Amino acid sequence: MPGERIHTVRFEPVGIEMDVAEGETILDAAFRQGVAVMHGCKEGQCSSCKSLLIDGDVEMLKYSTFALPDYERETDHILLCRALAYSDVTIELLNYDEELLSRSIAVREVGATLTGLSSLTHDIRLMEIELDSPMKFWAGQYVDLTIVSAGITRSYSMASTPGNTTTFQFIIKKYPDGAFSALLDGGLKIGAALAVRGPFGTCFRREEPTGPMILVGGGSGMSPLWSILNDEARSGRQRPVRFFYGARSRRDLFYLDEIEAVGRQLRDFRFVAALSHAEAGDAWDGESGLIHEVCARALAAEGLDGDMDAYACGAPPMIDAVIPVLQRAGVEPGRIYFDKFTPAVG
Ligand SMILES: Cc1cc2nc3c(=O)[nH]c(=O)nc-3n(C[C@H](O)[C@H](O)[C@H](O)COP(=O)(O)OP(=O)(O)OC[C@H]3O[C@@H](n4cnc5c(N)ncnc54)[C@H](O)[C@@H]3O)c2cc1C
Ligand code: FES
Repeated sequence: MPGERIHTVRFEPVGIEMDVAEGETILDAAFRQGVAVMHGCKEGQCSSCKSLLIDGDVEMLKYSTFALPDYERETDHILLCRALAYSDVTIELLNYDEELLSRSIAVREVGATLTGLSSLTHDIRLMEIELDSPMKFWAGQYVDLTIVSAGITRSYSMASTPGNTTTFQFIIKKYPDGAFSALLDGGLKIGAALAVRGPFGTCFRREEPTGPMILVGGGSGMSPLWSILNDEARSGRQRPVRFFYGARSRRDLFYLDEIEAVGRQLRDFRFVAALSHAEAGDAWDGESGLIHEVCARALAAEGLDGDMDAYACGAPPMIDAVIPVLQRAGVEPGRIYFDKFTPAVG
């Protein structure tokens, strides 16, 4: 353990206790001991791990005030991914569900080799890796991938399904200046060594809800949604599934035939693609606008009900915009799961 002094963390209202070493964040201690608490970016950017300090002393590492505004810090809110404990502490979890706690997988690190790279669009790549030993995960989770030769680590969500624990696929958007993603066009050769740490993330397919499932994403947010969609189809549960996917123009859309093929395995499936900046030559006769607007219109028109759950993945502003839309459509706030693809810190 990184620190020398060990303290006890007690999570309320679930009554779970675990150790934390001084110098180790409370979230890292939870990963190490296989305690599943709510989290997203792990870097103080997304607010998913926000909790209430009931008792004890913590110090916070640097974080974004978007994730934890000053008025919340002043009222004893903390980010578990940034909090170091200096005494025994009691923390109230603000967001948790029984299924999350019961499906915890302890985080570990394994070596891997790059086995495939191909283009899905002009700026989206499909990457495949072979792990040295199996890693269990749930559909929708992510890992931290390190390019060993370059020493660069970034988070990427598995696009493949949990049935395959040694071959992982990732859908990755390329940024021209991206330390990791720009290497996907020529900078990274098949056979390159990678390190995989995980699994992380709480936006994984839940098995409890019995009503309709709603998926919303844009760009490389397809990666976890593709895993969740395929995993749901494979489960044979036959809940209604609605999939809303936003892109700028026609050239940013991909997997249309593949989505249709998965849809044929489901009794009640609708896929809605929306273009926010359709180009003259696109000859687009589908939905236009931002995906949260299109999602709002479609859900209002259809009036879905029942024990629904929703999964949103991609750019943080898209997720912030779609959460109230999903709530208005009748999805309980605790059943809206999301992963904000926040840029890496530092
Ligand atoms: C939980 C989680 C899951 C993720 N899953 C995926 C995934 O499945 N697929 C995927 O493609 N990405 C995913 N990401 C994002 C990914 O981790 C990297 O942040 C992204 O690939 C950029 O890394 P980079 O090294 O290429 O760019 P960096 O070197 O980190 O950034 C270089 C430049 O690229 C641009 N840039 C980088 N990130 C963003 C951004 N998010 N929005 C706008 N501009 C940006 C900026 O101009 C920035 O200055 C995920 C992030 C998180 C937190
Ligand atoms: S702010 Fe802690 S996990 Fe994102």
